[in-house]
Amino acid sequence: MPQSSNLKPITKAVIPAAGMGTRFLPATKAMPKEMLPVVDKPAIQYVVEEAAAAGLTEIMMITGRNKRALEDHFDRATELEALLEEKGAFDLLESVRESTKLAHMHYGRQASPRGLGDAVLTAAAFVGNDPFAVLLGDDLIDERNPILPTMIKVHQKFGGSVIALMEVSPEQISSYGAAAVAPIEPGSGIENVVRISGLVEKPSKDQAPSNYAVLGRYLLTADIFKVLQETPPGRNNEIQLTDAIAELTKREDHGGPVHGVIFKGLRYDTGDKLGYLQATIRLASERSDLGPELRKWLRDFVKGLPE
Ligand code: G1P
Repeated sequence: MPQSSNLKPITKAVIPAAGMGTRFLPATKAMPKEMLPVVDKPAIQYVVEEAAAAGLTEIMMITGRNKRALEDHFDRATELEALLEEKGAFDLLESVRESTKLAHMHYGRQASPRGLGDAVLTAAAFVGNDPFAVLLGDDLIDERNPILPTMIKVHQKFGGSVIALMEVSPEQISSYGAAAVAPIEPGSGIENVVRISGLVEKPSKDQAPSNYAVLGRYLLTADIFKVLQETPPGRNNEIQLTDAIAELTKREDHGGPVHGVIFKGLRYDTGDKLGYLQATIRLASERSDLGPELRKWLRDFVKGLPE
């Protein structure tokens, strides 16, 4: 376990997965967007694997209509397993069982799409008073450069909540939550950590407090729930998690401080068609089974592309 042993380990994570997936229609007409495969695993499995690798093995997924496939994917498939066993297809059998062994899965349901903040609030009873992580399914963090262990360390050092940030161009910032940041005193012993003094959900380029965008990884204390209950609808008329965390930054005595870890590793936006294709190609080209042939084909393919 990558967590410090003298503190109570953080084991709970919330994964909101109630979104409609409109960006991938018609593929997502009858199938959750989280089930779209990245190479041969559904995108959501990478996220559950990331949580489990950081010791977060009590996972509540917040689903909605049309999402049954998610529950089925993380559950045993006894008939299929029996069939594979009978056929002696043991590698496949193992791959089918893998998703069921990662974590204890719990499910909550968001009655209507009222925003990310509302989805997280659905998990209040599950979380209780413990600090917990939130992982958004559209952001896929490459397993070679995990960020959750650093976020946990920062929480253990400073208390309060921790969010992940990444630097984006001024043109891109309006697609994200944007953070007002201040450097922390040197000597904290942890690199790339800033203090958050404010947050704005999807600001225009001119109104963004910085180019630091909120990435879909959060480590929150249970104080967030009280704030969420009082957070009015914000951007898009939805209850925004960003607005609630912005409020936390003002309530030092009740839930603050909020720190940010600046992520510099590989991340894919699988909620976007281009990002999804890039993730699929990149991860497939690095696989030992598919990579050699795919890379060869890609090189020829690129040569034949018009300028
Ligand atoms: C959500 C958050 C936003 C964050 C983004 C990261 O937006 O509201 O603050 O920057 O995830 O992926 P969404 O992409 O769900 O619209």
